[in-house]
Amino acid sequence: MKSDTQVAIIGAGPAGLLLGRLLRLSGIDNVILEARDRHYVENRLRAGLLEQPTVDLLDAAGTGERLHREGKFHEGFELRFGGRSTRIDMRELTGRAITILYPQTEVVKDLLAARDKTGDPIAFEVSDVTPEDIEGDRPTVRYRDAAGVAHEIRADFIAGCDGFHGVCRPAIPASLTKTFLRDYPFAWFGILADAPPISDELIYAHHIRGFSMHSMRSDKVSRLYLQVAPDDTIENWNDERIWTELQLRMGSEGSPRLNEGPILHKSITPMRSFVTEPLQHGRLFLAGDAAHIVPPTAAKGLNLAVADVSVLSDGLITFYKHGDRSVLDGYSHLALQRIWRAQEFSRAMTELLHHVPGQEFDERLQRARLEGLVASRAAMTTFCENYTGLPFAGRIHH
Ligand code: APR
Ligand code: PHB
Repeated sequence: MKSDTQVAIIGAGPAGLLLGRLLRLSGIDNVILEARDRHYVENRLRAGLLEQPTVDLLDAAGTGERLHREGKFHEGFELRFGGRSTRIDMRELTGRAITILYPQTEVVKDLLAARDKTGDPIAFEVSDVTPEDIEGDRPTVRYRDAAGVAHEIRADFIAGCDGFHGVCRPAIPASLTKTFLRDYPFAWFGILADAPPISDELIYAHHIRGFSMHSMRSDKVSRLYLQVAPDDTIENWNDERIWTELQLRMGSEGSPRLNEGPILHKSITPMRSFVTEPLQHGRLFLAGDAAHIVPPTAAKGLNLAVADVSVLSDGLITFYKHGDRSVLDGYSHLALQRIWRAQEFSRAMTELLHHVPGQEFDERLQRARLEGLVASRAAMTTFCENYTGLPFAGRIHH
């Protein structure tokens, strides 16, 4: 079956859904194609620390209401090392920004609910998605729907929001792209525990045994992470070993021990830094994880996807409203500036807090860096400016 639209969006993660929403608010037709089913998309467990610019754009999209009601405002966080804890007051240091802890799955649910209301097309469980003629004036996307029926959508533009393993990035000729990759000699073991968090704030802990962190999903459920070896497996970690290791690494003078409870979920996440350049070719534009990956330490993945969409939506809306393609043509260049800033900070924060066994000189330097950070108001301010989120480059149109 053949159909037409203005923008064909591939992928219904935060990037694709938010782009579709902002385009709709400016009267631009779009279709979203998603490989997985709706339940899967709405329940994927991911970090959710929203920077202020992300909150502002979700507000502008009219999808921020529940996050203000249910999200938890964070004005500071704790940094632990050497058995001591330092509270870093983000609000006081930056004079503005705070972050909101609101799981990514909830952002996705809000965006899907908004799309349900406007009735814009979205197809789940599609397969064989193939972007074609991206160098021409009227690119197409072929795919099969959930029933196996073949479709062809003709569009003005294709937005590749299909994540790291999607089909859009490989559709740009390899001879025109450059990719940048850094792997890390560790991974994150994450648990969800039926145990009340010990603090309303996040705790990042550096320890000679490895990094650990304390986050939360509700007043009753803790989200905790441990640095492990990249080839470690879930089977190696029974509940007792997990709690013993967390207590050891998070322990600090005068602070309460973590509350322990039944472990509801365990997972291991690899750590990677990745960027592809450029983000556009012809009429195909990449946004979000399709274009870049950051290690999870600073929780920048979702925010970076939203930052891309801020510029890409500005470019598309400016084109449709004023016939001016200059913002769209500048998308890759502008978005990459912020992407690299976030890459730099994500890597620096990862290297500041994780432990690489056998590197004693580096371990001493790391301690010196941590001491230097908490001793200097200027250093902490710079850290917080990056942590709470650099401004977005795109304009809001309505
Ligand atoms: N066709 C259609 N959809 C696809 C295809 C395909 N060939 N391949 C992948 N997808 C879908 C995935 O199923 C997923 O739902 O694209 C979507 C991409 O969504 P995300 O992976 O959530 O990526 P993005 O929207 O860029 O959001 C970035 O996700 O990984 C986290 O930390 C990251 O928070 C960040 C956020
Ligand atoms: C999380 O809650 O999953 C989380 C929060 C902050 C981070 C990383 C992960 O920096």
